[in-house]
Amino acid sequence: MEKKERRDPTEASIHTDFKNNMTYGEYLSLDKILAGQNRLSDHHDEMLFIIIHQVSELWMKLILHELKGAIEAIENDELSTAFKMLARVSKTQTQIIQAWDVLSTLTPSEYMQFRDSLGQASGFQSYQYRMIEFALGYKTPHVLKIYEKDKELHEHLKVAYQEPGIYDVAIKALSRAGLPIDSDVLDRDVTETYEKNDSVMQAWLTVYRDVDTHWDLYELAEKLVDIEDWLQQWRFRHMKTVERIIGFKQGTGGSSGVGYLKKVLDHRFFPELWDIRTAL
Ligand code: HEM
Repeated sequence: MEKKERRDPTEASIHTDFKNNMTYGEYLSLDKILAGQNRLSDHHDEMLFIIIHQVSELWMKLILHELKGAIEAIENDELSTAFKMLARVSKTQTQIIQAWDVLSTLTPSEYMQFRDSLGQASGFQSYQYRMIEFALGYKTPHVLKIYEKDKELHEHLKVAYQEPGIYDVAIKALSRAGLPIDSDVLDRDVTETYEKNDSVMQAWLTVYRDVDTHWDLYELAEKLVDIEDWLQQWRFRHMKTVERIIGFKQGTGGSSGVGYLKKVLDHRFFPELWDIRTAL
């Protein structure tokens, strides 16, 4: 029988000499990223627990980056640029929501075997999550205390807390488009959580009742609704996954657990954009 020629599948032009060139791993700092999965127990499933949090935090970093860019673009009346970024935020949110499916493979019996090693550490202390909430206008100054032990981080959080949220800049865009907005909303203290206002409600109603005239603002509003919708779905899946894994036990962060997570679901970031659905 004729002997089959065995071929090396590697193409001759593939680069293999990296003495003077940057590799993929170097560019991505993979040595640092892949050295950061430090299990506190020798339980097999703690690896999943660590990685799911780290992956979510990486996606949150991208969400923050895009939200920051979108806020700047809206302030400069570059709405098309903002739409591109906000669409990416929404797509990224679908990724972190998918992460709950992977985490749901962790059973209560498995988690209980290493939960105690977490001490008081909890996602409640996720500073990127708080920065996302700040960027969406939900301001909770009491959480800043958590970061006091790291001066630089604390300052960074304080700056994020004092900046206007995306809804503040969207409302200013409504005003620049000639829609009347109360001056106390335009000059509001942005370190306070946004509260609904009738002039903003009327402005969005005008936009939704004549979308041809206000197409850009209409698109902006729907992009914001997408983001809030996905965020609530993330919160809901978190709450149900937590119930599935720890039932109604208290959280490691000290809250009531599922009860607390249900309560935060009630917060609405862009209240008028939900209220107009009933009013239209
Ligand atoms: C076994 C898995 C998990 C359990 C049992 C769990 C449990 C909890 C509980 C009970 C809270 C309320 C605060 C507390 O008392 O600790 C909380 C908050 C939080 N968790 Fe998780 N969690 C899990 C996974 C995750 C993952 C994968 C993330 C992704 C980053 C995450 C992010 C957060 C965030 C951001 C909060 C603050 C929510 C808020 O204040 O609105 N959690 N978690």
